[in-house]
Amino acid sequence: MPAVDRQRLFFALWPPEDVAGALHRVARQIQASQGGRAMRRDTLHLTLAFLGDVPVAAMNRVLAAASAVAPGAPFTFNLDTLGYWRHNCIVWASPGHPPPAMARLAGDLQDSLRSEGFDLESRPFRPHLTLLRKVVSAPELPSLPALTWPVDGFSLVASELSHEGARYRVLGRWPLAKS
Ligand code: 2AM
Repeated sequence: MPAVDRQRLFFALWPPEDVAGALHRVARQIQASQGGRAMRRDTLHLTLAFLGDVPVAAMNRVLAAASAVAPGAPFTFNLDTLGYWRHNCIVWASPGHPPPAMARLAGDLQDSLRSEGFDLESRPFRPHLTLLRKVVSAPELPSLPALTWPVDGFSLVASELSHEGARYRVLGRWPLAKS
């Protein structure tokens, strides 16, 4: 097997089991009535910073950037909104009112990665979890059950392509500060 010299990397929040389970049930319900492809339960996540393909030799700089982020306090938010983006055919869930601590964490991570020399896209942070892909026309969406997500850390994840689609491997986790 050829040696891997690059990895597709991103930083993300990973939902607790109960939130992932509820989101997956909603995704399956939408798939049954509107088509598209529901993401697997274990792949549901909210991306904070996307690096794209990174040489394995640069991994020490990725780890240094994550460790340089001053950890804020744990925070909690509610996922209460479902939506659809026509341009990429995805159905997503998002917090209607993202807490400032979430945008701060994403911004701090991105700044830290840039100061380690990574060239990130400058598109605005739009916190969301992709629930389904390949939804080709605007679907009717059910309402989302009340979902509360406590956040106490963030993860570095590698996306690897397999015959089942993307598989995600958590490479590291950084806790938020205990008060
Ligand atoms: P998506 O679910 O909206 O496609 C792994 O691919 C993760 O990185 C997914 O959460 C994906 O978002 C996100 N992602 C992919 N390309 C990205 C980009 N150019 N900018 C920000 N996030 C991206």
